[in-house]
Amino acid sequence: MANVQRPLLTEEPAWKDLQGYYEHHGSKINMAHMFKEDTNRFQKFSSTLSTKDGDLLLDYSKNRIDDNVMQKLFQLARDRQVEPMRNAMFSGEKINFTEDRAVLHIALRNRSNTPIMVDGKDVMPEVNAVLQHMREFTDEVRSGAWKGYTGKAITDVVNIGIGGSDLGPLMVTEALKPYQKGPNVHFISNVDGTHLAQVLKPLKADTTLFIIASKTFTTQETITNATSAKQWFLESAKNRPPLDLLRHKINVNVQVSGDVIQQYTAELVDADPVVTAVSKHFAALSTNVPKVKEFGIDEKNMFEFWDWVGGRYSLWSAIGMSIALHIGMDNFEELLSGAHFMDQHFCSAPLESNLPVILALLGIWYHNFFNAESIALLPYDQYMHRFAAYFQQGDMESNGKYITRSGKRVNYTTGPIVWGEPGTNGQHAFYQLIHQGTRLIPCDFLLPVETHNPVQAGLHHEILAANFLAQTEALMLGKSMDVAERELRNSGMSDDQVHHILPHKVFEGNRPSNSIVFQKLTPFMLGTLIAMYEHKIHVQGVMWDINSYDQWGVELGKQLAKVIQPELKDPVPVNSHDASTNGLINFIKSHRK
Ligand code: F6P
Repeated sequence: MANVQRPLLTEEPAWKDLQGYYEHHGSKINMAHMFKEDTNRFQKFSSTLSTKDGDLLLDYSKNRIDDNVMQKLFQLARDRQVEPMRNAMFSGEKINFTEDRAVLHIALRNRSNTPIMVDGKDVMPEVNAVLQHMREFTDEVRSGAWKGYTGKAITDVVNIGIGGSDLGPLMVTEALKPYQKGPNVHFISNVDGTHLAQVLKPLKADTTLFIIASKTFTTQETITNATSAKQWFLESAKNRPPLDLLRHKINVNVQVSGDVIQQYTAELVDADPVVTAVSKHFAALSTNVPKVKEFGIDEKNMFEFWDWVGGRYSLWSAIGMSIALHIGMDNFEELLSGAHFMDQHFCSAPLESNLPVILALLGIWYHNFFNAESIALLPYDQYMHRFAAYFQQGDMESNGKYITRSGKRVNYTTGPIVWGEPGTNGQHAFYQLIHQGTRLIPCDFLLPVETHNPVQAGLHHEILAANFLAQTEALMLGKSMDVAERELRNSGMSDDQVHHILPHKVFEGNRPSNSIVFQKLTPFMLGTLIAMYEHKIHVQGVMWDINSYDQWGVELGKQLAKVIQPELKDPVPVNSHDASTNGLINFIKSHRK
């Protein structure tokens, strides 16, 4: 299935059908009119999933769609083999064909524990074994049974990783702060030494646990940061003699024929105190055992995952260790269960009521027909402040590609630009452009019905929800010339003033949005939401016929950086690049103190 050659999207009959419909009707589709004409529009274009933590509603009625558009989009999805390609992913087919890998983040959260085969082997026993290992480790650290080198419990965890080995754990630990049951977590990702310096400044080496998160364990930024963190740790440890904790007291029973004839306490001193100290403060999350060992991390502190877990889909794997340490393993498993719930929905719901499919098709409609270049993710929940940043990688690294699975260049646009900030902050920053700018920006608004912080008897949340609702209504309705004129006249303006100001006060409206409303931001619900967007990305990749699971585009810059780094050291000016790059390198060299 994964290797079946497909026609270009634009050659599909269903595409041509949609194109024709768009050309005849696209510019005339007006949401405000349709809402007036069809009182059932909300019921028709919304879908609710009942989860164990309450309902999840997707209202997509505020879109430039009608029955014809949706029916044609679903037809296109069928013709593009969305269902068989979904099944190919779930059954472990190597759909990431450029790396010859299966794509099985869904196995990491397969709470039904049904076998999932890769190369004839069920992956579930290994998945479960790592989860068990994570549970033992996180329980020990959280309970204080795990001691640092001075015998104190761990109070702070520092995750060192970048991209998928950083953004997911960071986003989730922020989103689930109300569920904290363990140490504080911190994140170092940027190779800019400032990041490391600032994070480490308030921390104490003897109560800090470093988690080196890297699928490959070769990523330059992560290995550089991990090496510097180890140096910082050893420096701090050296300054705290004696390394008493490296002495262990053990009780010895001398037995003859099963009878204890003598008992005493002995003291053991570690042969290599540095190795022991490091083993109490460094753990690794990786697929690369030899590199982890080479770095000097105790194999017992290594948590493995597999090449069939893509970096940007890895928070469900051992990469989620900082999440599990912060909120406890039970809550981490709730997160997995929520994602599994969405996986089951994605696999079983008909396309017409399948949330990830609907979101994906609406995106195709705007990006490919209305030429919308971006999508804004706007969570009305401060805890979700890294949600858009997380899906910047999730979406843009997955679908930012112009070559189809059969090696042709696309003649249509693919991955959108993903951006966004939490509401209401965004309203006072960039919403002006969404309301009255020249670009069409489809928006996803997300809101929990219940807040974790009902400050002032819920007043804050009420204002938040009112703003959420007002924005989607304003985007859809706009403000007509008549209404704007009436308002200006009522404010006492003269004819001249009204004439002058009126055009600026008109909102053309008809700007699309999805509203995603859920009961409460619990670990389960967050898992459900993340998986919904993951599958949306998958469906769009299938529609565009691209491989959403490799990322060759980030390699070239990495290669060039390796060439340039030694050139920066050499005092002699360079002339081996283009004039701009030479000029920049030489400028930096000559201005360094
Ligand atoms: O540079 C891109 C990338 O490969 C991402 O896909 C990945 O999430 C990130 O780098 C980090 O990779 P690793 O986990 O191997 O350090």
